Amino acid sequence: MIDLRSDTVTKPTVVMRQAALEADVGDDVYEEDPTVKKLEEKAAEMLGKEAGLFVTSGTQGNQVAILTHCRPGEEVLLEANAHLFLYEGASMSALAGVQPRTIQGNRGVMDPEDVRAAIRPDNIHFPKTSLICVENTHNKAGGVVVPLKNMQEIYEVAREAGIPVHLDGARLFNASAATGISLKRYADQTDTVQVCLSKGLGAPVGSIIAGSYPFIQKARKWRKRLGGGLRQVGMIAAPAYIALTEMVGRLEEDHRHAKQLAAGLQQIEGLQVERPETNIVLVHVDGLAESAESFLQHLKADGILGGSFGPATVRFVTNYGVRSEEIDEVIDRVASRYAF
Ligand SMILES: Cc1ncc(COP(=O)(O)O)c(C=O)c1O
Repeated sequence: MIDLRSDTVTKPTVVMRQAALEADVGDDVYEEDPTVKKLEEKAAEMLGKEAGLFVTSGTQGNQVAILTHCRPGEEVLLEANAHLFLYEGASMSALAGVQPRTIQGNRGVMDPEDVRAAIRPDNIHFPKTSLICVENTHNKAGGVVVPLKNMQEIYEVAREAGIPVHLDGARLFNASAATGISLKRYADQTDTVQVCLSKGLGAPVGSIIAGSYPFIQKARKWRKRLGGGLRQVGMIAAPAYIALTEMVGRLEEDHRHAKQLAAGLQQIEGLQVERPETNIVLVHVDGLAESAESFLQHLKADGILGGSFGPATVRFVTNYGVRSEEIDEVIDRVASRYAF
C-alpha cells in the first residue's frame, strides 16, 4: 500500500528507536526527566519562547493551551475550517467550557479586520473574547501557508484589544520549510504555539506547547489534570528530539513530492488539483461523476490510500514513508483507471 492518508502514518527511524532505547530518564511529573527537559528547552529555543512543555498530541497541546488561556463562559475566535473547530471533538466546549466563534477565511487566512470586528465589546450580554487562534499551515485549506504579514496584522489587532493569540502550528515546520521564514519569526506573532513532532518529522508521539515561563507552569498543571503527566517519558522524548533536530531538513522532500503528485494528477481529465504549497494535495473529483468515497475505494483496490476531505474532495499527504518512485506509481495507477 502507498499510504498518503496523512503525515502521521510515518514510522520512527532506526536512529529514533535507538535513541528511545538509550534515553536517560526520570520521573517527569517531578520534572526530573533529563531527556524531556532537553527536548522542551530545545523546542522553546527554536520557537523563541521562554519555556516549552512536552504533550502527548497536537490535540492535547491545543486544549491545554485553551484551558490555560480561558475561563468557562468566554469566547475563542478562530477560522471557520480550523482543526480546533472541525476535528477536536468540540473539546474546547466540553473541557474548557468556552464557545468558539468562527471567522470565514480565504483559504484558511482570516482578514485581520474581520478578527477586529468579531472581538466582543464589554457588554452584559456578551461573552468575553479571551483568545484568538491561528493555524499555520492550514490543514483543511490544503496545507496553505498563512503569510507572516497576516499573522503580524492579526497579532497587532489582538494586542490592541489585550487578547492573547495561540498558534496551532501542527505543521509550522512545513510553513517554515516552504518560505524560509524561521519558526521563531512565526511564533513571535503569537503568545503561545503548539507544534507537532509526530507528523512530517516522523516522531512516534508528541507535540510541544511553548510560551512564557508563567504560562507553561500553569499549562503543566492542566496537562496533569488531563492525565498527561507521564513518568519516564524520556523514552518517547528521545525520538521526538531526533525529529526536532535531525528531520526538519527533510520536509522539502515532501513538498517536492506534493508538487510532483499534483502535476501528474492534474493531467488526468476529470480531476481538479489545487496547487500545493507544502505537503498536502487536495483533489476535487466532481469531474469523474463519483464521490470522494467511491474514488478512494477504487484507489484502495489499486493499492493507494488517501483521505476524504468533503463529498467530492480527496486529501493526499506526502510523508517520510513515500518515495518519489511511489508518487510516480500513484499517478500511473490513477491514470490507468481513469484516463480515457
Ligand atoms: C492543524 C492540526 N492541528 C492539530 C492536529 C492534532 O494533532 P494530533 O493528531 O496529534 O492530536 C492536527 C492533526 O492532524 C492538525 O492537522
